[in-house]
Amino acid sequence: MSTPSFAHVLVVGDANPDLVLRGDLVPRFGQAEQLLDDAALLIGGSAAITAHGFARLGRPVSLVAAVGSDGLARPMLAELAAAGVRLRVFERAGRATGLTVVLSRPTDRAILTHLGTIPTLTGAEVRQVIAETPELRHVHVASLFLQPSLTRELPAALADARARSISVSLDTNDDPERRWQGVAELLPHVDVLLPNESEAMALAYAVTGNPVDGPVAAARALAAHGPLVTVKRGPEGALAVTPGGEVRAASGVPCEPVDTTGAGDTFDAAFLDSWLAGAPLEECLRRGVLAGAAAVLAVGGTAGQPSSHALNTVEPNTLEPNTLERS
Ligand SMILES: Nc1ncnc2c1ncn2[C@@H]1O[C@H](COP(=O)(O)OP(=O)(O)O)[C@@H](O)[C@H]1O
Ligand SMILES: [Mg+2]
Repeated sequence: MSTPSFAHVLVVGDANPDLVLRGDLVPRFGQAEQLLDDAALLIGGSAAITAHGFARLGRPVSLVAAVGSDGLARPMLAELAAAGVRLRVFERAGRATGLTVVLSRPTDRAILTHLGTIPTLTGAEVRQVIAETPELRHVHVASLFLQPSLTRELPAALADARARSISVSLDTNDDPERRWQGVAELLPHVDVLLPNESEAMALAYAVTGNPVDGPVAAARALAAHGPLVTVKRGPEGALAVTPGGEVRAASGVPCEPVDTTGAGDTFDAAFLDSWLAGAPLEECLRRGVLAGAAAVLAVGGTAGQPSSHALNTVEPNTLEPNTLERS
């Protein structure tokens, strides 16, 4: 079990609701009305889900994000605030909030995203929030490739933060444009990089120019540029390579996933919460994997996120829906 630590975290990135529509149907054009089984407007956006994950673990956390003036983000912002996330939200007049519509049927999902205000967060706004949060000890950046202009301004902002003893982590998530640009410039300012397996391979190729053979090689190639690299491997768990080249791993937790939205973000929150508390790497990985598995047992990004108490007490081989009850 890790030592509690109250270092304040700022999560930077996307806060856009997920409209999850469930039903055993395929959408049909031609103006025929089809009835759904369920519809829910949930907390979405990797940064928002990660911030909620930190709050569930009892970690003091702020979220900086941009939303539109359409009110679409209001319910999820209220939910984040109620969970204990301090909101630093910039509202763009006349713009639409980013929105993801998830069409979910028993065997598959279609995911439709309108980026809206997601790419509008600026380096100046991130710097402003950092300057206004003197208790800040860690900055986590999410969904890098959805925010290309912020990406260009981040190296300088993160270098300044680290000069103030603020540590930095980065989960780029996927690059929808498959370019993977801007990461090489950021890596020297990052303490912990948290890609999933396919992202790790793509990032290693983008940074080194050479194809890599598997997740350990990818993590090694990226760790050579400075950060501790943690690779999330879905049902297989996760591994980490230190800047010194040491490899650690945690095996996955067998379970029947209900919805994998937010698994990686929930992993990030639990891993980083332990890392900030000074826990050994194996323990950080173990808690990240357990939290990720808990997240896939509930619909939406945040409903399955565990509390710190739940992570401390659960037996991984008994993990099933409701084991990590909200406590
Ligand atoms: N099908 C699954 N079964 C068990 N655990 C899972 C499953 N999918 C994800 N996880 C857990 O969530 C973590 C993050 O998921 P992963 O899919 O690797 O990341 P991302 O969501 O960023 O793509 C994994 O390390 C694992 O602990
Ligand atoms: Mg991810």
